Amino acid sequence: MKLFADQLAAVVLDATVAETAAVIRAGWPELPRAAIVLGTGLGSLAEHIAIEAEWSYRDLPHFARSTADGHRGRLLAGRLAGVPILAMDGRFHAYEGYSFSQITFPIRVFAEFGVSFLILSNASGGLNPTLRSGDILLIDDHINLMGVFGSSLPAESREPMADSRNTVFPASVLRPLYDARLRNLSVKLAAEENSIPLRRGTYIAMLGPNYETRAEYRWLRTLGDVVGMSTVPEVLAAGELGLPVVAFSMVTNVFRPDDAQQTTSDEVIHAAANAEPNLRRVVTRLLIECDTNSPLAPHPTPLP
Ligand code: HPA
Repeated sequence: MKLFADQLAAVVLDATVAETAAVIRAGWPELPRAAIVLGTGLGSLAEHIAIEAEWSYRDLPHFARSTADGHRGRLLAGRLAGVPILAMDGRFHAYEGYSFSQITFPIRVFAEFGVSFLILSNASGGLNPTLRSGDILLIDDHINLMGVFGSSLPAESREPMADSRNTVFPASVLRPLYDARLRNLSVKLAAEENSIPLRRGTYIAMLGPNYETRAEYRWLRTLGDVVGMSTVPEVLAAGELGLPVVAFSMVTNVFRPDDAQQTTSDEVIHAAANAEPNLRRVVTRLLIECDTNSPLAPHPTPLP
């Protein structure tokens, strides 16, 4: 009975993904090479996309709505540096009340289009004291403290480890969730682009929506380099779908144990916008390089 419910949920999910993809295809009959998720304050990157079609999330079936500050809530189809892409201008967060399957639904749609890889971006708070506001950090790995775990299936039909659709465990063990080839390429391209400094490290995901207390920052510092409230659900879903991911974090504020200042969302959005040109250069080079040299085969089918 339970197995039947799971299978039914999976069939329904596949049908909703196909329905959304059909709406996008009807307005934009191209094959996107990659998909990009623009996080907090990074919406200005969208101004550099030659937009050929766009949809408010409100007009896309089964998409949630963006409610967070600094997230516009539209899907863009077009070209960045001539490369056909789909881009989310604004993402969904668990703190907005969305479930894992709602947050990651767009990732399933991107996979349906057969994109070769996914580029994620976010804003984060720096924990590592050598970080500066405006730094770009390439995420090597994460620690998930969101209380939101990997399954694209609705929570009510989830039975961890019961079948492969319900778990990302096999994929993450067999290969890193953050694609090693894309990470190495990003480091090389950032160095070539007038030596854009690219930091690397571990991203810790908290549920939010509040920024951390001083005690939490101190504790999190022992675990990783930056802290944010997103990205991990999308990465888990991409792992489940066999879609290579690269993720960049814009450090918008750095925790200083001796400084009593509070982080505000305006400060975070402003700092992310200032650092956007460097991130845009790295992302653009990555797209051009992957388009020209095709280092990535189309994404493999999910593991059995
Ligand atoms: N904490 C959590 N998320 C964030 C922060 C932070 O300090 N800065 C930007 N996003």
